[in-house]
Amino acid sequence: MKISNRAQNATAEGAFEVLAKAKALEREKGIRVIHLEIGEPDFATPKGIIDTCKAALDRGETHYTPAAGIPELREAVASYVSKTRHMDVDSSNVLISAGGKLLIFSTCMAFLEEGDEAIYPDPGYPPYKSAIKLAGGKPVPLPLQEEDEYRIDIDLLAKLITPKTRLIILNSPQNPTGGILQADDLEKIAKVILPSNAVVFSDEIYSHLIYTQEPHISIATMPGMRDRTIIMDGWSKTYAMTGWRLAYGIIPDEFMIPMTKIINNTVSCTSPFIQFAGINALNGNNPEIAMMYHEFKSRRDLITTLINDIPGMKMMKPNGAFYAYPNVKEVLKKTGLSSKGLAEHLLYEAGVACLGGSVFGDTGEGYLRFSYANSADNLQEAMRRIKQVFVKDFGL
Ligand SMILES: Cc1ncc(COP(=O)(O)O)c(C=O)c1O
Repeated sequence: MKISNRAQNATAEGAFEVLAKAKALEREKGIRVIHLEIGEPDFATPKGIIDTCKAALDRGETHYTPAAGIPELREAVASYVSKTRHMDVDSSNVLISAGGKLLIFSTCMAFLEEGDEAIYPDPGYPPYKSAIKLAGGKPVPLPLQEEDEYRIDIDLLAKLITPKTRLIILNSPQNPTGGILQADDLEKIAKVILPSNAVVFSDEIYSHLIYTQEPHISIATMPGMRDRTIIMDGWSKTYAMTGWRLAYGIIPDEFMIPMTKIINNTVSCTSPFIQFAGINALNGNNPEIAMMYHEFKSRRDLITTLINDIPGMKMMKPNGAFYAYPNVKEVLKKTGLSSKGLAEHLLYEAGVACLGGSVFGDTGEGYLRFSYANSADNLQEAMRRIKQVFVKDFGL
């Protein structure tokens, strides 16, 4: 039987592959692996959210909903986004989805014809490239460099935009670098994009996890951008709800019908009891949410200090999300390993699971990514083990 080129070209997300290897190692060799590979909060979902879900189940909220979501949640999202982005959002522009990943896929399906170009950040969240290819588009990586603090090189972006560019994906705060696009970046990016034919997909899934004084800003608020920008945000990271599969898009009028059709033709709708739980989360009455934020912030400080104390690894303090992204070029040069090879060595020799930077694109070679969504004790133990392996195996 012939498998389609599209399916063959799609890649599995690196974090899930490493997780599977680490789990196998734990099962077969009884080793206690410290998991810093997967990007999900280690906290339980706040109790108030779980209770709301249970109550919805008990009320019998167990049937199909409108494809775009239940009106109560769409309204709650509209008012939340209006407040957090300082823009007026109407609930008719809110599209509920079973996770942010599905909105990435739906956007690629809605805007890309065979051969159309889509620009995405490199290093960046791996499903961008995969979804572009699944939709038949041509992925065009936009390299982000450490010396620019992983902000976008505007001249380079301008050069990459062609008459065939239909989609530009932005992500701030960024996975894997923790970089943030500030108001002046967004202004310049908007000016470069405005004359093009491109729709912008603004992945704002880490919008709540910013550790500087500046508020989160969406490119949709820049002059002329509102009508061509899809904002994506969701519950996975802010509310420790990765397994619930719940996210939203803020979609311009003109795109609402095609985007909703794709949701309708894939998952039909998002589970109703999950959507009700989402309303509770947005109300912000759960004390766990602030606690998780403060905990991530203090772990960020801790991991930055621990990593910079290991000879061979160097990193800037990330401004957002929950990833540390150290430069390990010196170690790679000394050992001849690739970043994926180094990550594998650390898994088998130190019992620490992390990701080689090339999982996030070619520009990621030379870096590792550690998710610091793990306890301070585990972060300390992981870095102690790595330091030991660097000394023992690499003479660093
Ligand atoms: C940048 C980015 N966007 C989207 C997602 C997907 O989130 P969801 O769980 O809502 O599919 C992730 C998850 O790791 C992410 O890092």
